[in-house]
Amino acid sequence: TVLPFFIFLLPVALVLLCSSTLCSLGCDLSQGLQEDFSLLNQMSTFSLVPCLKDRTNFNFPKEAMEGNQLQREDAKVIVHEMLQQIFTLFSQNAAPATWNQTQLMQLLIGLDQQLEQLERCLAQDVKWEEPSLGSENSKLALKNYFQGINQYLEGKEYSHCAWEVTRVEIRRCFLFIGKLSKKFKD
Ligand SMILES: *[C@@H]1O[C@H](CO)[C@@H](O)[C@H](O)[C@H]1NC(C)=O
Repeated sequence: TVLPFFIFLLPVALVLLCSSTLCSLGCDLSQGLQEDFSLLNQMSTFSLVPCLKDRTNFNFPKEAMEGNQLQREDAKVIVHEMLQQIFTLFSQNAAPATWNQTQLMQLLIGLDQQLEQLERCLAQDVKWEEPSLGSENSKLALKNYFQGINQYLEGKEYSHCAWEVTRVEIRRCFLFIGKLSKKFKD
């Protein structure tokens, strides 16, 4: 019959559709996240010491994202939300001219690729259509958190120090994202 033959061809068709490197990476974001983290480190050589007075507690919503009830799909949704918010943060506001603009651009391109990769990875989950209550709560907590960062930057009139403090905070976010993304790596 035709059916077994079709099944035999299916993987070939998928390989052809998925010829880009993005697709072959599957759900493993670790390499991309490491590159983001190192770009974030390198793009400013400015010392944080003069900015210590500008430090603030952004109240990272750790608890809202660490519950035992969090499923694999929730972890994907949370990481997606964080990467999206970080992308918006760095793309919508003019970051300091003293930052290496090439590396900032590379960071944005990298984030965009990881978001795309994660969307493909999310599409593999049937349950993605019905977000869980846990992931909705986490997303809300994250929206508030990033809104706080935006308000802080605005309040400090996007000063160089405010951006440096923000950069350090986002670096911490990446450590958390790295941990969370191990949950859906395989
Ligand atoms: C900015 O980053 C790029 C890419 O890493 C590098 O080639 C360049 O030398 C850097 N520019 C400065 C001014 O540090």
